[in-house]
Amino acid sequence: MTLPKDSKKLHPKGYEPKIIIKEDSNTRNQLLNAILKPSPVTESVDTDIFAVMAKRRSTRKFSDKIVETEKIDKIIAAADTAPTAGNFQGFEIFYIKSPQKKKDLIAACNKQPYVDAPLVLVFCKNPDRVKLDFPARILKKFAIQDATLAASYSQLAAQGLGLSSIWIGMFDEKKVMDVIGTDLIPSSVLCIGYPKQVKFPKPRRNLKELVHVVWE
Ligand SMILES: Cc1cc2nc3c(=O)[nH]c(=O)nc-3n(C[C@H](O)[C@H](O)[C@H](O)COP(=O)(O)O)c2cc1C
Repeated sequence: MTLPKDSKKLHPKGYEPKIIIKEDSNTRNQLLNAILKPSPVTESVDTDIFAVMAKRRSTRKFSDKIVETEKIDKIIAAADTAPTAGNFQGFEIFYIKSPQKKKDLIAACNKQPYVDAPLVLVFCKNPDRVKLDFPARILKKFAIQDATLAASYSQLAAQGLGLSSIWIGMFDEKKVMDVIGTDLIPSSVLCIGYPKQVKFPKPRRNLKELVHVVWE
């Protein structure tokens, strides 16, 4: 994809990735790939995806330690690598930098106090981006899946970077939309930071109950 001639910057106002690539780079994947490369801040992190999955545990108590920009970049870039229906990327990420907006989000998320985390990302569905010739209800279904997968990729990336997170699904859609100023419906609020305490993963169902084998 060629960027419009007048578009010098590859990032939005207010969010500048640590890595800046040359303005003449003509594909957005160059920035994405540059961000995802190992770097001094992130080289000690867990790159074994199965170890990351096995260790992940939700956190509702975050330390005040600021999340490094390079880690934020990777968390956002991870979302951007997720599969989406027709590769139309039917989702948007709202990166909440305003401390007041974070406080407002607590109220919009059923008064859950930990929504005020060091890094707060709101994932919204954007079915209008999905230019596939299907009924609107299918496009909405695709957008939910796009937004959910993207948030999930970010959540795993955060874990791999030594951070922890809490996925917030309990919120008043309208209130969240008012706080972040959009007419797009949110699908999840991902709150990320350094955990105050590292905990063991929670137990899961036995595989016998989980997996249903279909023979014929
Ligand atoms: C769809 C969904 C909605 C969730 N909503 C909330 C929420 O509103 N508040 C919260 O504290 N945790 C929420 N969670 C986090 C779950 O409680 C948590 O993932 C679950 O207890 C399993 O724990 P684990 O993530 O440590 O494995 C949600 C998780 C998912 C996937």
